[in-house]
Amino acid sequence: MRKKMVKMDKLVLSPIKINNIELKNRIIFAPTSLGLSHEETVEKYRSIARGGVAMIIVGDVPVSKRGFLSMYNRKMAKHYQDIIDAIHSEGALACAQLHSSDSKFTSLIKYIPLVLIKKMTPNDLRNKLNESVPHYISTLSLKKVKEIISNFGDAAEKATQLGFDCVQVHGDRICGSFSSSIMNFREDEYGGSPENRAKFAVACVSAIRKKCPNITIDYKLAVRQEKPHYGNAGVIEEEIKVFVPLLEKAGVNSFHVALANHGELEDTIPPVNHPYFKEQGCFLKFADEVKKYTNLPICGVGCLEKPEFIEEQLQNHRIEMAAMSRQLIADSQWVNKVKNNEETSIHTCVRCNQKCLKGMQAHKGVHCIYEGRAS
Ligand SMILES: Cc1cc2nc3c(=O)[nH]c(=O)nc-3n(C[C@H](O)[C@H](O)[C@H](O)COP(=O)(O)O)c2cc1C
Ligand code: SF4
Repeated sequence: MRKKMVKMDKLVLSPIKINNIELKNRIIFAPTSLGLSHEETVEKYRSIARGGVAMIIVGDVPVSKRGFLSMYNRKMAKHYQDIIDAIHSEGALACAQLHSSDSKFTSLIKYIPLVLIKKMTPNDLRNKLNESVPHYISTLSLKKVKEIISNFGDAAEKATQLGFDCVQVHGDRICGSFSSSIMNFREDEYGGSPENRAKFAVACVSAIRKKCPNITIDYKLAVRQEKPHYGNAGVIEEEIKVFVPLLEKAGVNSFHVALANHGELEDTIPPVNHPYFKEQGCFLKFADEVKKYTNLPICGVGCLEKPEFIEEQLQNHRIEMAAMSRQLIADSQWVNKVKNNEETSIHTCVRCNQKCLKGMQAHKGVHCIYEGRAS
């Protein structure tokens, strides 16, 4: 049988160096909380790494030193190490998405019985949690603010000790809420002007840079859109010019640009019939805006599925990397298929959200309608 020619001329398959790491190609598995058991999670990451991606961003790694999901908890440390080993064994890099919560879950415990008797949906509970964010951010004591900032630095060090190759600062949790004029009503140096609202995120990045001088820091910049309004945390498009240079100066090495959250999850993970975000690369217009204010590599995310479309965006220098969540859940072999000229056999994500997002929301874990089909 004639051996298939490997397409190495494609930009999507070419390496890129970012600070002290080299991505073997331009495809990244976007941060995706999987809601699966330990064994299933490790195997899911292994299969995505085996499919040829350059890097996997492990979603929502808390910086807190307490709590059952903390990296400082021995069981969780082992969980992350098993994930990292699986990713490395298949030749990909592992990045920890560092985040800190921006609300007090304990204040919502009173609603749990209502959820249990189905008088309230898990989505209602999530909305209540989102509603509590402005109060939490605006009243957090300065002592606590400094403690969380310092936790980011310590967490980056801990992540590298566990074996992560780099970190992403999640700009859509506490960093995004401090950044947002509709979440942050503080009257001290962390509130008010865009420069002040940027101070918390900038301090988190600086704390990481100070603790780990050589580490590669990616920043997930969450952008809020007005006209029409989508997303609540993060920065509005007009503020990108303030935030991006400040974050770069603090030590960020690359940006990952997406729509801000703290609203409907289906806006940041848009289904095929979304009223506004339904085009391929639906959030790339935010990346275009970021590009005006930095020369650092930019990773696009959001409804990126088709190899030709992604190649075109790379060739046009709109983005330097492409991150995908659902497309790689639908077909972990995406990169290998592109390499082997087998694009037509890619299971294209149809953005139904049926088994991935809805699987997670139903506490069944992230799955896909394509599961069980021959690859
Ligand atoms: C099931 C699921 C879980 C997700 N978990 C996270 C997460 O932990 N952190 C994060 O920043 N984004 C998370 N996302 C958002 C993705 O990173 C991505 O931005 C979004 O899905 C749009 O990309 P896509 O069209 O390639 O799916 C999640 C998405 C899905 C589908
Ligand atoms: S369940 Fe639907 S939206 Fe989710 S990954 Fe599979 S095809 Fe895509």
